[in-house]
Amino acid sequence: MKKLVALLLCAAMLIACISAVAEDQKKVGISMPTKDLQRWNQDGANMQKMFEEAGFVVDLQYAANDEQIQLNQVTSMINNGCDVIIISAITSTSLGSALDLAKEKNIPVIAYDRLLMAHDWVSYYATFNNYAVGTIQGEYIRDQLDLDNAEGPFFLEITAGDPGDNNAGYFYQGAIDVLAPYIEAGKLVVKSGQVEFSEVATPAWKTETAMNRANSIIAFYDDGSDIAAWLCSNDSTALGVINALEDNYDGEWPIITGQDCDIANTKKMIEGEQSMSVFKDTRTLAKQVVKMVTQLLNGEEVEVNDTETYNNGVVTVPSFLCVPVFADVNNYEELLIESGYYTPDQLQ
Ligand code: BGC
Repeated sequence: MKKLVALLLCAAMLIACISAVAEDQKKVGISMPTKDLQRWNQDGANMQKMFEEAGFVVDLQYAANDEQIQLNQVTSMINNGCDVIIISAITSTSLGSALDLAKEKNIPVIAYDRLLMAHDWVSYYATFNNYAVGTIQGEYIRDQLDLDNAEGPFFLEITAGDPGDNNAGYFYQGAIDVLAPYIEAGKLVVKSGQVEFSEVATPAWKTETAMNRANSIIAFYDDGSDIAAWLCSNDSTALGVINALEDNYDGEWPIITGQDCDIANTKKMIEGEQSMSVFKDTRTLAKQVVKMVTQLLNGEEVEVNDTETYNNGVVTVPSFLCVPVFADVNNYEELLIESGYYTPDQLQ
């Protein structure tokens, strides 16, 4: 009997001990937009791993690219006692009521990769330099076509990102600021006539939507003229353009830009169908966010490197911008394989 009592006591102490540790552990809610695009799976997995290694409890949720699902998920993270919420929004303005609630409960919110717009309750923003992504793409086209020396004219087409994603405008603008002088001078000609962001945007960054629009543009080249370059803001849209060109275009293969170094697109770079991509190492971003959260919850100064660029219409959000890197067939092995981002098998 005495043995049984002692045993029960021990068990009770153990349970008390475990729950004391659990109570001490901070809980972080991570809301990602979708599992459909490769990068968000990587972002989520990297953050989960790094936060857990740092001793956090993680509630990671994906919202199937549905604004209402994301709103419900973030709201329940707040109601379930998360100490901090990290959000990559499907649409930058669709989470207002969740942000109201976070504000009411004084739970900090960090915008991840995509800025949350039109609300004052956005504590920090961690991303890559989005404008620089566009600059890298625009400069690549400029240099490959040697626009400063060659006579031209060259035909250019443009496929941009989701108008609901604040990043998309930065990518577009970064590239257009490089290319606009050549368009104005007539050295670059957009035969479809579609140049404005609203005309070239791709809702939800969907490959299929980009493909359908590309198919209608290819019809402008039925006269046998060649498309010299196709500016695509990211890899999912580049894939749509490549699919359309493969099916319906007979001219010289154009220069095609991208972003993310998704596996499918890296393979296309190796095969020579996509010319370049922009590598944004999601491990770097995840690491930075874990650092931010740790500093924030410890009451330390949070490291940021940009306090001017990202005004969300209500506040300028202190930001940390990681550096995007040019990638093509010549450096992908070093960037992606030697760094352990992908195994050689994944790119077979
Ligand atoms: C990200 C890009 C990504 C795109 C589509 C953007 O917000 O910054 O890396 O390609 O969303 O998911």
